[in-house]
Amino acid sequence: MEKESLSTKPTAASQQLTASRITWQSPSNIALIKYWGKHGIQQPRNPSISFTLSECHTETSIEWEKGSGKAELIFNSEKNLKFQTRAEDYLKSIRSYLPFLGSIDLHIESFNNFPHSAGIASSASAMSSLALCLTSLEQIMSGTDLSKDEFLQKASFLARLGSGSASRSIFGGYVIWGKTDSCPGSFDDHACPLCVEVHDKFSDMHDCILIVDDGVKSVSSREGHALMDTHPYARQRYTQAHKNAATLIAAMQEGDEETFISIVEQEALGLHGLMMSSDPAYILLKPNTLHIIDKIRAFRKYTNIPVCFTLDAGPNVHILYPARETSSVQEFIKNELLVYCRDNRRIDDRIGVGPQKIMNGE
Ligand code: DP6
Repeated sequence: MEKESLSTKPTAASQQLTASRITWQSPSNIALIKYWGKHGIQQPRNPSISFTLSECHTETSIEWEKGSGKAELIFNSEKNLKFQTRAEDYLKSIRSYLPFLGSIDLHIESFNNFPHSAGIASSASAMSSLALCLTSLEQIMSGTDLSKDEFLQKASFLARLGSGSASRSIFGGYVIWGKTDSCPGSFDDHACPLCVEVHDKFSDMHDCILIVDDGVKSVSSREGHALMDTHPYARQRYTQAHKNAATLIAAMQEGDEETFISIVEQEALGLHGLMMSSDPAYILLKPNTLHIIDKIRAFRKYTNIPVCFTLDAGPNVHILYPARETSSVQEFIKNELLVYCRDNRRIDDRIGVGPQKIMNGE
């Protein structure tokens, strides 16, 4: 079996796999400072900061044979034309970096363990797991042996070309993507682990995702990014994101939970404010999203527990809280928030260690 310097884990399914199959499991991530607006070839307009989740993930396997650059995609055991087209476009777009893709045919199988297109960054886990498979394949094809850092950098670079937020899922813990002076060694081309040592207060962050609505979004993130090109507040937004990134990094170093909360919530509401002031304007929030936000703020005021919310491009609410507050926050969620969720659904997640290569079992 090929040995990566990353952690590997055997699964039941992997026992039947053959040598010409590569499998990676890669998690989603939740952004604290939002990536919203891009230019050129998937270059971010501002730095974004996220933490990688532990539970919500995509597992992607690729098999290949000699061919002419064709690809077939099976998603959650079914053919999916939309994702197939996206994968084909992606593979064509990265051919200059991976020329061997023109002379093989790929069979891709992807499994998500959480709802896709509902504002949990499913493109992050999907594209990062595919990019990791392709980076592993490149090593086999070229016979090169990249160091762990080089491997992850390349995978993050390739993931970014598929979906910007996917570049961050390649790394565990807190991650930054987008060049900023407040984090020396940050890049637009790929993500990297956050440059500072984070205070203990933030080391075991939990994220309970309240599923307000798991339907497909009316406006995709891709379309939302495009609307930033003509957005009247775009320039101010990018300046604000740079400032917020610097303030958040300092707060995370110092253990300043108050500042952390205020920046994270401002970023979440600001993101949706941008959507509501785009041309055309649109709303992804639902009434229950706002009920939950009100409740979280009231709970925090009443208890002084440092719990806050963030939002992705969708109506679901991510409740962030430190591990030490688990029992009281869980009680609060059960008693006061689940009533606003579709079928009482929520996903309990937390900060995770990043992707895992699944062993071939040979
Ligand atoms: C709101 O990474 O999904 O989740 O690069 O077009 O694939 P593309 O967009 P995507 O945008 C995610 C935006 C966000 C904020 C974030 O994750 O930073």
